[in-house]
Amino acid sequence: MTEQIYQIAIDGPSGAGKSTIAKAVAAILKIDYIDTGAMYRAIGYKISRDGVDMHDEAALAAMLKTTDVDLSEGKVLLDGEDVSSKIRTPEMSKMASACSAIGAVRVKLVELQRGMAKSKSVIMDGRDIGTNVLTDAKYKIYLTATVEERANRRYKELIEKGEEVTYEEVLEDMKQRDHNDSTRKLNPLRKAEDAVEIDSTEMKFQEVIDRILGIVGK
Ligand code: DC
Repeated sequence: MTEQIYQIAIDGPSGAGKSTIAKAVAAILKIDYIDTGAMYRAIGYKISRDGVDMHDEAALAAMLKTTDVDLSEGKVLLDGEDVSSKIRTPEMSKMASACSAIGAVRVKLVELQRGMAKSKSVIMDGRDIGTNVLTDAKYKIYLTATVEERANRRYKELIEKGEEVTYEEVLEDMKQRDHNDSTRKLNPLRKAEDAVEIDSTEMKFQEVIDRILGIVGK
């Protein structure tokens, strides 16, 4: 008998560990992982690379019309080009946060995201998955941690990649992004009423994975 398809939605603030956790759970459950933040980053990257004025509605609409964002084999493809590493910089984090507040960008990406989850089991992470993109997801998780702990994790990651940043800068950025993501008008970050909250501040990676596998009954 073939197993029923199901969706797992994971939302939460930046640096809560959503993508690392979701990727690991996807591998264990042998389902696709969809990183929606990467899609906003890809759009932010294109806006910045091509010098598009994101507040010029016509220019943005023209750009979006001819833009394709795809996730395949762990890569982020922007119009067919692999931009996976280019989108992982502090600058692109800011661009993604800024462009994610614009309605036309959200409409385009939400449509793509729903299409990706239509006919297969997926685990999708982001800010509005449980509340907007996949409101009927069978499992919803809200993964969070204190802002200091999230900044600390992100700081270590950036230092390992050779970025020159201070902890204080990362903490300030993180607070700013929390503010932007949770106060924007369109689909702000919030916990879905039917989501299970996991605070990973004091938890080890494996504990979070086990908790999620417990929630999905595997
Ligand atoms: O998860 P991330 O840091 O890669 O996301 C980058 C930005 O994209 C983040 O600041 C908020 C935005 N985003 C969003 O608005 N909705 C989503 N579903 C995913 C990300």
